[in-house]
Amino acid sequence: MRKILVAGALAAVCIALTACGRRGTIAVENEGAGSDLLRISHPAKYLLLPVEEACGEKRVTLVTGSPADVAMDVRLAHDSVDYFVPFELPAGAAEAVVRVEGVAPDAVFWDRVALSDRFDTSNTDYYRPAYHHTPAYGWMNDPNGLVYKDGEYHLYYQYNPYGSKWGNMHWGHSVSRDLVHWEPLPAAIARDTMGHIFSGSAVVDKNNDAGFGRDAIIAFYTSAGDRQVQCMAYSTDNGRIFTKYGGNPVLTPFDGLRDFRDPKVFRYEPEQKWYMIVSAYKEMRLYSSEDMKEWEYVSAFGDGYGVQPRMFECPDFVELPVDGDERNRKWVMIVNVNPGCMFGGSATEYFVGDFDGREFVCESAPETVKWLDYGKDHYATVCFSNTGARTIAVPWMSNWQYANDTPIMQHRGANALPRELSLYTKDGETYVAAGVVEEARLLRGRSRQAGDVSVEGEHMLADLAAGFGGAFEIELDVTPGRAGRVGMELCNGAGEKAEIYLDMEAGRLVMDRTESGETGFGRRSEEYADAAPDAAGPLNYANDFALATWAPLSLCEGGTYRLDIFVDRCSVEIFVDGGRIAMTNLVFPTEPYDAVRLFAEGGTARFSDVTAYELKL
Ligand code: FRU
Repeated sequence: MRKILVAGALAAVCIALTACGRRGTIAVENEGAGSDLLRISHPAKYLLLPVEEACGEKRVTLVTGSPADVAMDVRLAHDSVDYFVPFELPAGAAEAVVRVEGVAPDAVFWDRVALSDRFDTSNTDYYRPAYHHTPAYGWMNDPNGLVYKDGEYHLYYQYNPYGSKWGNMHWGHSVSRDLVHWEPLPAAIARDTMGHIFSGSAVVDKNNDAGFGRDAIIAFYTSAGDRQVQCMAYSTDNGRIFTKYGGNPVLTPFDGLRDFRDPKVFRYEPEQKWYMIVSAYKEMRLYSSEDMKEWEYVSAFGDGYGVQPRMFECPDFVELPVDGDERNRKWVMIVNVNPGCMFGGSATEYFVGDFDGREFVCESAPETVKWLDYGKDHYATVCFSNTGARTIAVPWMSNWQYANDTPIMQHRGANALPRELSLYTKDGETYVAAGVVEEARLLRGRSRQAGDVSVEGEHMLADLAAGFGGAFEIELDVTPGRAGRVGMELCNGAGEKAEIYLDMEAGRLVMDRTESGETGFGRRSEEYADAAPDAAGPLNYANDFALATWAPLSLCEGGTYRLDIFVDRCSVEIFVDGGRIAMTNLVFPTEPYDAVRLFAEGGTARFSDVTAYELKL
């Protein structure tokens, strides 16, 4: 790129940038007040915007003269370039005009901004997951609009296409036929003049209740601008292209509440109506409708329930059989809370009870807290609609404490493996088991057996995961016997380890990632400022990433525990006894874990059927 000064009637300073690309030239007109117009003749497909993550956000607008023009916030590079993001230009136009605001004249942006018909999405991240869903580039948080239709699972998600930190919320889109192989598709719903497109849900309108056509996919999302209101959009081409409903918003808070978001819509057959559950700061509100456009307030639940203090986000509400008995079904309200996680930051709790079309009555005492996952990187979890008898949940695998800081650049954010939910009873309470979906077996490649091993002290399986590139599954049964601490370390040649063990004295399954690899991006969170140190707890107040998480073993029957552990380039997911305990934690080992050290302290423990599988797409 070369800057050439040219004359311009309107401009105070006018510079022409000769693009290196095949076609297109960029002429820059300074509009004053730190605003520049890039006039691009014969535009290529993309303007490649150089991003420097440490920079503040600058506004970038495709100027068409329409009132729908909306600025995107991009961390345009000042000193150096971390990566590029593609800014799409109008196809076939003679000229495209892009306004950039707040870029200093000496910023490296001016040297590096470029035109191109291609945007290379080849992976440049060491920690890019080998088999978990991630966007090809950009930032991802919550799963949105999870819906199954005609053999396809649609996974929309909170997406920033203009950088790998949170911002510019769009709904990104991927589809899968088996829940593990995902095909990226263009973003489905873009940020607009009403605001960000926040989280929400989607349904298949089989009877054309909304009038957009039989079998239309209808998406519900929160428009987040000066206020948060619920909007709808519909697709008649199997979820590829959405049209925003002209009558938006369809629901505003009756009390002017600021935090009112993440609508989940579901069909409730006994009333022959659609229901919407919306998070409303410290409670969930239910509404009902016949046409999904006019919503009537029904009731609220949550004040004083579960972990305190908290803010409710991303609800779901599903009915499941208890212990597989279809005649005994209960309702589960999934509530994502931020903060509230036992280990700091964000996590997913749930309440079990009855619902009669009006009120949800929780069957446990208000102070009872039940977690869907006991790790630190499981949030915004919601379920697919239209999956018949199966209830399949998808988590976002991060935590708001450090989600923007993880050592990843090209893309940031992944989903944990989908889990199938079921209800089981234990000691008079009803709990949700979140077992990994059976489709995860499709990922299995080569396997290695270590058979049955009795261990007192330690037993090294040096090659168990060698050559698997840090992407593998380990299945085994653990019988602790009289041992007090029994488990394993996933280790690498750099001396880093993720420890997973049963602490039989404390009655806990523990995963300790203190020495798992890179942890330096973790910080002391403000939320710890007045937190009372928990003597028995594993919180690390100095670094919110370098710590251990634990789950109560009382959720299991005991004696022998079946562990199914999924390891990827930057994550570990542990499922005990079919998901009675699920624990999801990020890890950033600087070399892939390839060895496993089994250990048992204070007695002999038995490890049976120890098998490792390479996992790949
Ligand atoms: C949860 C959340 C939602 C919101 C979205 C914004 O992670 O805060 O409540 O809709 O993220 O990206």
